[in-house]
Amino acid sequence: MPLMTTKPMFDLAYAGGFAVGAFNVNNMEITQGIIEACAAEKSPLILQISKGARKYAKMGYLKHIIDAAVEEYPELPIAIHLDHGDTVDLVNTCIRDGFTSVMIDGSHHPYEENVKVSADAVKAAHAAGVVVEAELGMLGGIEEDVVGLSAEEYEKNVEKFLTDPVQSADFAKRTGIDSLAVAIGTSHGAYKFKHEAKLAFNRIEQIMKTCPGLPLVMHGSSSVPQEFIDLVNKYGGQMPNAKGVPEDQIHMAVSKYGVCKVNIDTDLRLAMTAKIREVFATKPSEFDPRNYLGPAREAIIGMVRRKLHVLNSAGKAETIIKHWEKLGKPLPAFYKK
Ligand code: G3H
Ligand code: 13P
Ligand code: ZN
Repeated sequence: MPLMTTKPMFDLAYAGGFAVGAFNVNNMEITQGIIEACAAEKSPLILQISKGARKYAKMGYLKHIIDAAVEEYPELPIAIHLDHGDTVDLVNTCIRDGFTSVMIDGSHHPYEENVKVSADAVKAAHAAGVVVEAELGMLGGIEEDVVGLSAEEYEKNVEKFLTDPVQSADFAKRTGIDSLAVAIGTSHGAYKFKHEAKLAFNRIEQIMKTCPGLPLVMHGSSSVPQEFIDLVNKYGGQMPNAKGVPEDQIHMAVSKYGVCKVNIDTDLRLAMTAKIREVFATKPSEFDPRNYLGPAREAIIGMVRRKLHVLNSAGKAETIIKHWEKLGKPLPAFYKK
């Protein structure tokens, strides 16, 4: 049952020039689409759940869907991760729910408060064998539970929101985090850049120097492929000027720098929405949900397989499992009951 923390994954990703995709799950079709793509590509994966997903699907349902996926594909290294946890209470709830990894996002707090909340989360999580990601710097985009900035506001002032390399070292030392989400010019959602898409690679380089060996995480890393925007718009959608992070920049970040985890949600939403719109537009009499959710699940499989190649993680499942076995198959306390 290779459910695991992200540690065995990141150990190999950091040195091996690949990153593990962290895909947001909100229902059964999305989860199945992700897992089937990873099985086809023999890739490790992180299934991440936001506070909004917990509320929408109810955690019990999501956990059982994920457990079914883990059971169906015992050859895949899988981590269950809390995305953008906003309180230590939520982190504790997720530890009790069997998550193997949590994110505490204190990036909207003043620095000292971010240190405190992140250190508290680490204390609780490590005691239960769970790993912790925290964030420093500010990403753009509007999130329901963590207040972000609009893409326009962000792009205008981007330099001042980027992660500070010197502060990163202090933050990592004082909190004991296992990975750090960095702000390097990405933002959440489908409208990431008004002008030229550009990541601050020099920042990642500097952070790698001040925090050697610390796995870095990129949020807001959907590429918003134009062909999917075209499909959405062709079949009645309205998403003008949508723009993501070009795939070659993502590939560069994972192959050249210490980026071990790449978060993708928007591209899954786009793939699903484009397909459902197409079915509704071309078959107006269709009303069996299996006949639009099924094709939507296929679209997720296609999108995730494409991502796994951008992240270089295709084919890496087996070596991670071997490494996990060598480490003594570490698992959170939840699974040892
Ligand atoms: O970063 C945020 C993810 O896209 C999750 O979004 O809070 O709407 O589930 P959500
Ligand atoms: P995107 O909106 O670019 O998919 O980012 C998702 C994310 O960062 C989830 O935490
Ligand atoms: Zn995010």
